[in-house]
Amino acid sequence: MIMSNAKSSLKIAIAGLGVVGAEVARQVINRSDQLCLAAGVKIQLAAVSARNRSMDRGINLDDIDWHDDAAKLAECDEVDVIVEMIGGSEGVALELVRAALASGKHVVTANKAMIAHHGLELAQLAETNRVNLLFEAAVAGGIPAVKTLREGLSGNDITRVAGILNGTCNFILSTMETTGCDFDEALADAQRLGYAEAEPSFDVDGIDAAHKLTILAAIAFGHQPDFNAVSIQGIRDVSSVDFAYANQLGFRIKLVGVAEPGLMPRMQTCLLPLGSQLAKVNGVLNAVEFHGEPVGSILAVGPGAGGGATSSAVLSDLIDIAVGRGGFPFGQPINTLLDTSAIKNGAWPDNPFYVRLMVVDQPGVLATLTGILNKYAISVEGLLQQGRAPGNAVALVMTTHEAAEINLNRALNEIENLAIVRAKPVAMPILNLDLNK
Ligand SMILES: NC(=O)c1ccc[n+]([C@@H]2O[C@H](COP(=O)([O-])OP(=O)(O)OC[C@H]3O[C@@H](n4cnc5c(N)ncnc54)[C@H](OP(=O)(O)O)[C@@H]3O)[C@@H](O)[C@H]2O)c1
Repeated sequence: MIMSNAKSSLKIAIAGLGVVGAEVARQVINRSDQLCLAAGVKIQLAAVSARNRSMDRGINLDDIDWHDDAAKLAECDEVDVIVEMIGGSEGVALELVRAALASGKHVVTANKAMIAHHGLELAQLAETNRVNLLFEAAVAGGIPAVKTLREGLSGNDITRVAGILNGTCNFILSTMETTGCDFDEALADAQRLGYAEAEPSFDVDGIDAAHKLTILAAIAFGHQPDFNAVSIQGIRDVSSVDFAYANQLGFRIKLVGVAEPGLMPRMQTCLLPLGSQLAKVNGVLNAVEFHGEPVGSILAVGPGAGGGATSSAVLSDLIDIAVGRGGFPFGQPINTLLDTSAIKNGAWPDNPFYVRLMVVDQPGVLATLTGILNKYAISVEGLLQQGRAPGNAVALVMTTHEAAEINLNRALNEIENLAIVRAKPVAMPILNLDLNK
């Protein structure tokens, strides 16, 4: 996996010249001398591919080989590294990466969906062909999260990785909290500002963030990357009133991914104490919190998307390949990665929950609700009800003591069917991720 010393340049081909690919090309062309110092060899753009050849991408590609068929880049003899910047877990990106690794070319990609779904197969191909498969840009954009785990913290026993891994969701939640607007308005704002796609489901349903969590969990705990082993919940169910209640109770609502050894990684909309590190990360920023022994806790915060941040990660992967620092894709040989069947059955420890019910304001309601909660061993820690509206629906917010999620869900199913309950109950875990909890 080490570049031959005889080489005087590292020739790269970039497939995809969109937000990230074009910025990587720009950096490689404009900052050639500086990158050469870091890499020890010149990083030379030899070939590119995109769909639209006539589009102005703000870079001069006149002397660069153009391929209409991206998969054919794998056949370019002079190219050392394929930089896959097309995206999508399947299709041409996957075809190209498979062919490139099989033909002995290194691959750098920002494609979290592809690595989350096919990382095991691709890492195996890379190992078999003694080439590098690097994907720093696939997780948290400009934050070197993969490198932190694979290199900086490699001597630690990692006990937890938690993070805000999707800037779109963090922006939407922050906007709902600060302006009091509802989800649709905040999403429209994110779309207008270019933070959300026209079709936003990958982001708001937690899938994009879960792709990244799949990758982090595999590296942190030495198991196979397995997207199907991640429990996923997005942010669509949160209402603007929840932010006000959460705030009064001393919490902030965030979409947080958490992975711990032996447990199914989970991506969830949850409440974090206002003073906790991740609760303070707002807007489009991403953050990853690493907990380990003996290091303790480390927080990395930064831009999780955009051409600049993401190309920064791609460039560092290219430099690693040039200097022979590539290493194993998931930090250890494929045959030492554990199967994920064990974690799929692991039950998460109990935690407290935030519950919001829309109930008719009438005598006896509380007794009925607590009766059902008691039946499922859910004990209420605190209650919040503002204003009175006799005979009409009002929000009743409660926090529970530590409870098993399965019990809470059973209780809420029963509660939802009561005539006094006027909307689907909303429940979110309250997580205390700080070390000294
Ligand atoms: N954008 C970010 O901030 C960000 C952050 C982290 C990771 N990523 C990842 O980086 C990758 C690229 O994202 P992006 O935002 O740069 O995407 P993008 O702006 O949509 O660009 C995609 C590029 O791929 C090209 N392309 C599409 N289909 C192709 C095909 N069949 N053959 C050749 N080229 C094809 C497009 O060509 P045309 O330009 O001709 O249409 C375009 O240049 C994705 O895996 C994404 O998840 C992106």
